[in-house]
Amino acid sequence: MAEKEPIGVIGVGWVGLCTAACFAELGHHVYARDIVSERVDALSRGQVPMHEPGLSELVGGNAERLHFTTDMGEVLDNASLLFCCVDTPPTYSGDADLSRVEAVIADLGASEGHAIVMKSTVPVGTGRSIVRRFPNVGYVSNPEFLKEGSAIKDFMSPDRVVIGADDGSQGFADRVEALYSTLDGARVRTDVASAEMVKLASNAFLATKISFINEIANVSEELGADVSEVARGMGLDDRIGPKFLQAGIGYGGSCFPKDVSALKQLAGNTGYHFQLLTAVIEVNELQKRRTIGKLQKHLGSLVGKEITLLGVAFKPDTDDVREATSLVLSARLQGEGANVRVYDPVASEGAREMLGGATIADSVEEALDGADGAVLVTEWAEFAELDWSAMRERMNVPLIVDGRNFLDGPSLVEAGFSYEGIGR
Ligand code: UDX
Repeated sequence: MAEKEPIGVIGVGWVGLCTAACFAELGHHVYARDIVSERVDALSRGQVPMHEPGLSELVGGNAERLHFTTDMGEVLDNASLLFCCVDTPPTYSGDADLSRVEAVIADLGASEGHAIVMKSTVPVGTGRSIVRRFPNVGYVSNPEFLKEGSAIKDFMSPDRVVIGADDGSQGFADRVEALYSTLDGARVRTDVASAEMVKLASNAFLATKISFINEIANVSEELGADVSEVARGMGLDDRIGPKFLQAGIGYGGSCFPKDVSALKQLAGNTGYHFQLLTAVIEVNELQKRRTIGKLQKHLGSLVGKEITLLGVAFKPDTDDVREATSLVLSARLQGEGANVRVYDPVASEGAREMLGGATIADSVEEALDGADGAVLVTEWAEFAELDWSAMRERMNVPLIVDGRNFLDGPSLVEAGFSYEGIGR
């Protein structure tokens, strides 16, 4: 059997490590470089510094093909396709911060025969600008569509693989396409700018779907409809589809907030006012705050009230708290004078500083003891499996605001709770 092409991965954060581990699983030697030596040392010992189902097993099981290093030279000597997986956080203006991408390009220097394969989410136009400035390197856009919590599955069973290349890099693009040859899913071969836009537009569209259903939820509350029923009825239309119509207390995470804002700014920089995205962002911000009103409806003033947040992570099965609704709620509740306690199966410790003065509980029971109300922020499975009748005994006021419409409302009411969902 022909030897599989070795690849380089630059930046071993969540995207980089998932990419490295999956390509190693597909039989490639992967030279993965990060500038943080502690991280490289830990990974070389098989320690995975993040919570992603299946990732530790893949890293452990493919140790002989995964080479973690701080040395760019080692990567350049061994691989010519270099997957750029550094992060592109938002700047204060909402534009993407490309300094880490620029540092990677600078590290490549005058090397010939290498291609950057861009996995990081970058503004449309980034690839062409890099090619103009560094004509010696090839450039392929290959955006990632990995969801936290199901990243390995998303990589191994993609809906589509998008590969963008312009003249001069088609040979590299063919080699990138070959890396995915054993995986299912449609192939989208296109130019670099369009590939960059596919990524931003996909995330912006999904965020739009969420803000849309959240507005339908808010109106349904006023008009007596149940948003879950509405979403079910809408989702059966093939043209709409059932996914991303789950109303709740807003989207968070490392991608949606940043990418929606980046696309809005990108449009703005060309003189185009992307009105729809402005509304999507605003609806999401307001949605996070509506919970306060639901608590006040039952408790009046929140001054001195003990409020529990169940879940800190921006969604279940991850320890990621970036742009998590819990952070906004914790701050807003404390602003209203409430004492906030939080419980999350994995994410609270990492968020300690961001949660301000909130108390971190070690168990759900501890978090609910004497509480005047609880908000379900993250739909961790364990919250659905709780013995809620026993929890009721622990609480001072049996009030639940179910921010994800995740719990069985009617049985909670039967068990003596006041229950507030979203849009029902
Ligand atoms: C997202 C994209 O889905 C992925 O393709 C991209 O590459 C990275 O960003 P991720 O951030 O892991 O992935 O989370 P996702 O599962 O998409 O959820 C994002 C947020 O939207 C979460 O806060 C989630 O709670 C919220 N959401 C999702 C809803 O509020 N309602 C829904 O119906 C779906």
